[in-house]
Amino acid sequence: IKRIGVFTSGGDAPGMNACIRAVVRTAIYEGKKVSGILHGYQGMIDKNIIDMNSRSVSNILQLGGTILKTARCLDFRSPEGRQKAYHNIKAEGIDALVAIGGDGTFTGAEVFSREFDIPVVGIPGTIDNDLYGSDFTLGYDTANNTVIDAIDKIRDTAASHDRLFFIEVMGRDSGCIALNCGIAGGAEAILLPEKETGIDELIAKLENAAKDKKTSTIVIVAEGDKNGGAYNVAKRVQEKFDFYDAKVTILGHLQRGGSPSSFDRVLASRLGFAAVKNLLRGETRIMVGLRGNEIVTTPLEEALRSKEFKLAEDMIEMTNVLAI
Ligand code: F6P
Repeated sequence: IKRIGVFTSGGDAPGMNACIRAVVRTAIYEGKKVSGILHGYQGMIDKNIIDMNSRSVSNILQLGGTILKTARCLDFRSPEGRQKAYHNIKAEGIDALVAIGGDGTFTGAEVFSREFDIPVVGIPGTIDNDLYGSDFTLGYDTANNTVIDAIDKIRDTAASHDRLFFIEVMGRDSGCIALNCGIAGGAEAILLPEKETGIDELIAKLENAAKDKKTSTIVIVAEGDKNGGAYNVAKRVQEKFDFYDAKVTILGHLQRGGSPSSFDRVLASRLGFAAVKNLLRGETRIMVGLRGNEIVTTPLEEALRSKEFKLAEDMIEMTNVLAI
């Protein structure tokens, strides 16, 4: 390996910059050259590639977003798109890749690496925390802190007005943010994509809260909840239960921004360092991750396909208990 290409792809996540810094500096320390591919796979297709050195990543450790930009690239799904991408990165002398992103990124990396026999190591970067093979993904901790800060603020106003709030958090397929922040924010109910809760079941919980003279009630709704989002849930609840004045807050993309927490900065640095070390050791089509306090590797295929339930059962059970 002479030149490593690094890129971020899919939804951005706080900690991606700290990770890019670690990849670039570790590779240079090991005597390799580094290219930054802009806008993920789109940058390979458009040949939007820059040369990087240690100074290109100065002062980015603490920044949210990604200096390499990111995209969700449809063209890369076609064999023609991938052929073009390969042609372009080869012309730049890139002979190995570090892919920072989530499941869409790894699906592309897996196929590309097999088709063109190019070594790839993946780094889990998504606020969703939905990859098997790492207890935490980059950005998840920061996003949780952002969401908890918002829930606390909403609680102030909810309690002052005796209101019921439905707060929608990100996670199309993953309830990790919803469950974690629901517990940390003292939510009265949490709706998850992984576990269906019917409207009547939810109303029963809210009625109990009202009977017990709760002055405010917060329901966290994961984006991927099967009832169709916070506005829908609020509407259906209010049709049958109008004890409280209900309000809806969708936290949306603010959950993706902000300076990474210290946890995410350290995780990003460890994973970036480990990704390059593993590439240079001859490993490919793996994802580096954190298990306990150890850096581990998992085949990309497994990281993507495992249906391991990532939500802790005790946390689901305790949501009802701690809300009484
Ligand atoms: O995968 C990260 C994520 O923020 C999800 O939680 C969310 O469903 C999705 O990306 C939103 O994607 P976009 O920014 O493309 O709208």
